[in-house]
Amino acid sequence: MKNYVMKGNICYSKTRQELCIIENGYVVCEDGFCAGAYQELPEGYEAFPCYHYEDQIIIPGLVDLHVHAPQYPFRGLGMDLELIDWLNTHTFAEEAKYADTEYAGKAYDIFVEDLFKSATARACIFGTIHTDATLLLMEKLEAAGLKAYVGKVNMDRNSPENLCEESAEKSVKDTEKWLLKSQGFQNVKPILTPRFTPSCTDELLEKLSGLQKKYDLPVQSHLSENLGEIQWVKELCPGTGFYGESYHRYGLFGNSCPTVMAHCVHSGEEETEMMRKQNVFIAHCPESNANLSSGVAPVKTYLEKGMKVGLGTDIAAGSSLSLFKAMAMAVQCSKLRWRLQDQSAAPLTMEEVFYLATKGGGEFFGKAGSFETGYEFDAVVLDDSSIRHPQKLNVKERLERLIYLADDRNIAAKFVNGKELFKK
Ligand code: GUN
Ligand code: FE
Repeated sequence: MKNYVMKGNICYSKTRQELCIIENGYVVCEDGFCAGAYQELPEGYEAFPCYHYEDQIIIPGLVDLHVHAPQYPFRGLGMDLELIDWLNTHTFAEEAKYADTEYAGKAYDIFVEDLFKSATARACIFGTIHTDATLLLMEKLEAAGLKAYVGKVNMDRNSPENLCEESAEKSVKDTEKWLLKSQGFQNVKPILTPRFTPSCTDELLEKLSGLQKKYDLPVQSHLSENLGEIQWVKELCPGTGFYGESYHRYGLFGNSCPTVMAHCVHSGEEETEMMRKQNVFIAHCPESNANLSSGVAPVKTYLEKGMKVGLGTDIAAGSSLSLFKAMAMAVQCSKLRWRLQDQSAAPLTMEEVFYLATKGGGEFFGKAGSFETGYEFDAVVLDDSSIRHPQKLNVKERLERLIYLADDRNIAAKFVNGKELFKK
């Protein structure tokens, strides 16, 4: 069913400052697209079937701009290291297991089932270097009805033998094979995924740039997450003025190449300005940045400059798939940053983090993450009746509390691209 109306308390962002709340209102889905949110149902829609959600809260499906599916098995483990040691000790060892498609199948079943049950409608997902395992992940996401960009990871240096591609040439050949096999999906699309500059030779990035142009692909990677990492990139890439240039010099940094860069915790002025001008999306991953002691990204500043920003869970440097947790942590980390590091950037507001988790990240998918007319229709119905309280709360207060307190048990129904994935 692609034409229907939902009745309930409708909440969605227009801008980072403007949160629209329509109490006891209507939102209309027509052919999988949003035909607007209203206080009174306009003429012509009375014939549409109506889901009555009574006093429940209806929000756009949430968007995770950065998550590593193969790292899901060790979430919540090994949090005592910084980035490079964490990668070498825990991450690469786990990712190497995905050479075995039987293991990959089991692990990706768990990841996709949990993502399905969450409030996330859309995600930008890293796989591993393995073509077959990555295709398996794509098939499972497609079957689940989730919208995703998924990347087979490229890495041809500074990686353990069992997780290092033989050569740039072989890496790109495998990537092209994978691209050709991943054309048939409706919900799931491929995205080029050079892991990060330390794992990719110049030759590899140059060849990937050829694929990017040939197939007109988006790109995802990591940027300026950790101070040691940034120093390492400086040494690996003489002639670059800042980390972002190591991608930009191969045309893998925005403009005609839609790009998501995770973290950007320590981006300098020049890097920030290039991201702004070239419309690079920043995936802000506050839990990951706390767990790996990376720091706190200046998200408020990025928003004030009008840059493209969304939220990422960054499993398994982040422990939770929940974007509610990511929203709460984004506010909390911005307060610590403001108090301890930089009084010029005020903490993030509740409106801003809700925007980041919906329309901010959604923009990478086109028109997604809002109930404005013309947006792809993703919706999550939230039942907060289990979060007990003795006083009367308005809808905005209830939404604010859900940001801090919601888990999957509060999700009463989930719709992606107009299709109902489940109801309870
Ligand atoms: N940089 C390169 N690879 C990774 C990864 O898997 N996780 C995080 N957080 N940063 C990275
Ligand atoms: Fe990451």
